[in-house]
Parts: sequence; structure tokens; C-alpha cells
Amino acid sequence: MSFDILLRGGTLPDGRAADIGIKGDRIAAIEPRIDADAGRVIDAAGDLVSPPFVDPHFHMDATLSLGLPRINKSGTLLEGIALWGELKPLLTHEAVRQRALDYCDWAVSMGLLAIRTHVDVCDDRLLAVEALLEIKKEVAPYLDLQLVAFPQDGLYRFPTARENTIRALDMGVDVVGGIPHFERTMEDGRRSVTELCEIAADRGLMVDMHCDETDDPHSRHIEQLAYETQRLGLQGRVAGSHLTSMHSMDNYYVSKLLPLMAEAQVSAIANPLINIMLQGRHDTYPKRRGLTRVPEMLRHGIRVGWGQDCVLDPWYSLGTADMLDVAFMGLHVAQMSSPADMEKCFDMVTNVNAAIMGLDDHGLAVGKRASLVILDAGNPIEAIRLRAERLCVIAKGKVVAEKTKQQTRLSLDGRPSSVARRHQVPT
Ligand code: FE2
Repeated sequence: MSFDILLRGGTLPDGRAADIGIKGDRIAAIEPRIDADAGRVIDAAGDLVSPPFVDPHFHMDATLSLGLPRINKSGTLLEGIALWGELKPLLTHEAVRQRALDYCDWAVSMGLLAIRTHVDVCDDRLLAVEALLEIKKEVAPYLDLQLVAFPQDGLYRFPTARENTIRALDMGVDVVGGIPHFERTMEDGRRSVTELCEIAADRGLMVDMHCDETDDPHSRHIEQLAYETQRLGLQGRVAGSHLTSMHSMDNYYVSKLLPLMAEAQVSAIANPLINIMLQGRHDTYPKRRGLTRVPEMLRHGIRVGWGQDCVLDPWYSLGTADMLDVAFMGLHVAQMSSPADMEKCFDMVTNVNAAIMGLDDHGLAVGKRASLVILDAGNPIEAIRLRAERLCVIAKGKVVAEKTKQQTRLSLDGRPSSVARRHQVPT
């Protein structure tokens, strides 16, 4: 047998040593040792070979717009939404396209090959929807983009949001979004969850709602989301994003809520970089950190992913398209410090996020799509610790990014040395 690409000597995330043979856009073989011809042989000796990174929560219409037209002074979610409202009328199709394309290039260089992005439909021009649908087609040979119709200013609070959500779905947007905690009343929030889930059920679509992104423990729209998921038979196709109010809820209520989420198979997407920045802004000390209850949800068998949410936009002034940054922050804030928990965090930014997005073709297995990343790390924990370099990124059977290993040479009082950032930890 001959392959188009043969990866030699890599280590899989579960610790197995493996050669990987790629034919066309498929993984054709994974064996401890493959002796075969190949169009190209890539040396991955001692390096981690991982499935690609996946981001299940992003805002590509806003990315790379930091500073336009001004900076978020208070650092709050609400000023971010107001600021985005100032920028929206100034957006042009070409500017949204260019920023999105630039971000996709960053993503590919970071081995991030699938992104679910919300796109704001509270703009009657639906210019960002058009631009991102174009980008989705353009990057499809190497990156899977999934779009969520997102009524940022409220399904009922913004006059044409409902109509625009339907228009966006008719144009080909994949997923139904929402923002119940931003509606005018709790009751409107509850009704928006019901109506949006009904729209998704009618059209056979998935749901991903910004849900309870607030420090208010009484914001409980996730309960309604779990209820509607169950009622409409949407199990496994619904995600609640952010869920930060859960941080502030009392334990008794959460002990009822989490089994309901598990029963309805509602996934949760936590966004640690942005929420550690936004939440608790009204507190003095002790200051709530606002991340949703990730370890508790995992213990209840709820599927939980880590999302990035924002990069250089009205809400967040940093970010590099690096899902290892997201995992690094997430495991700190959630105190997921055991080896098993840290490995879980790596799994979350790869396989779990892919499952939330319904990407059946993702993963390192024979017959799956040949998309993978070679990292300058020995194992997943080391990859997170180092936010390891992506040495090679293969997307749908083609090498799309390559980088040589960097080394810093030291000259210390005549003692030549070099810094090896990798470190073997005894097991
Ligand atoms: Fe978001």
C-alpha cells in the first residue's frame, strides 16, 4: 500500500506511539509501525499528533475590530454590546470579509480547523451574514465554519430580530441562536427560548444559545432550554453557551438543574477567557469569578466544551486563535488540576467541541477525515503547559501550515546551553 502522506513516530493523545498513513482526504492507516511508500514522509518522532482544535463558540463578525470606533472602558458585557451597536452601522461587507479571512488564517496556523461562529442578525442589511456565508464557502477546503443566527440585541427587544433570524436561516445559516437574558423581562427571555427552539425543531436545526451570561443567580433560562429540548425532542442538538449565572446560583437549585440538563442532553460551552474578564465587575471583594460550574457538570455526565468567544473585539482585547490558551485559562479557573482533569481539558478543545458541533468526521481513526496537528509537546498536558507550537497542520489531507522547531541558545558566563521547554514528568 502507498500513501500520499506518512507521519512517522508520533505519539497520540492517549500515549500510543503511531505512524499514520493518509490517502486523499482520509486517514487510511494508524499502526505502531508502517512500512510503505508515501508521496511525502513527515517526521513526527516524539511529537504529539492530535486531532485538530475546534472552537464551538466564536464571533467572527466582530473579530479583529478592537478599537473601532473606540475601546470598551468599563470592560463589561453591556458596554461591549453598546459598543458593538455603535460599530454595526459602520461595518462594510468587505471589511467583515477581510477580518474574517485574516482570522481564519490565524486559526489554520494554530491547528484550529473547525469554528462555530455566531453572527449578529440585528442589522437589517444582514451584511455580516452574507459576508460570513461567503467566507464559509471560501475556507471550506481546509476549515469547517458553522454559523449561528444570533439576535444579539434580543429576539423581542430588537424590532426586526425575529424576522431577520428567519431570513438568515433561509439564507443558509446552520444553527439557531438566542440571548434570553438580554430580553426586556425574564418572561420575554423564557418565551424567546421557547420560540427559537420551536423554529429549530421545525427546520431540523441545532440550537446554541447565549444563556444566562450574567452574575444574576435568578437568570435561569437554562432551565427553560433543557425543558424545551426535552419537549421538542432536540436531545443532543442543543447547547447553552456561557451559563455564568450558574456560578452564583445556590447549590440546592443547581442540584436540581444539572440532572435536568443531563436528562435533556443539553451541552454546555464555557468561555473562560472572556468570562474571567467580564464577570464579577459589580463586585468588590470577595469577587465572583463567574465561570460556569464545569467540573460539577462533567460529574453529572453533561457534555462540556471550552470556547474562545472573542479575539480583539469590543468585549476582549487579547486572543490569538489558540485553543490551548482557552484550555489553559479554563483549567485554572475551574481548578481542574489533576492529570486526568488536564487531559480532559485537552479533549474538550478537540474531540468534545467537535461532538458539540456534530462533526462526525472528526478524530484520529481509520476512515475519518485526514485533519490533524503535530505539536511540539510529548503529551496533551505538556501541550497545554507550553501552549505548544504547531509544527505541522494537515487539513483534509493537505499540509496547510508548517513551522520549524525553535530553540533559544543561551550563553551564560561561558557555559553554552540551550533551553528545552519540554520536560519528562515521571508517571
Ligand atoms: Fe458569545
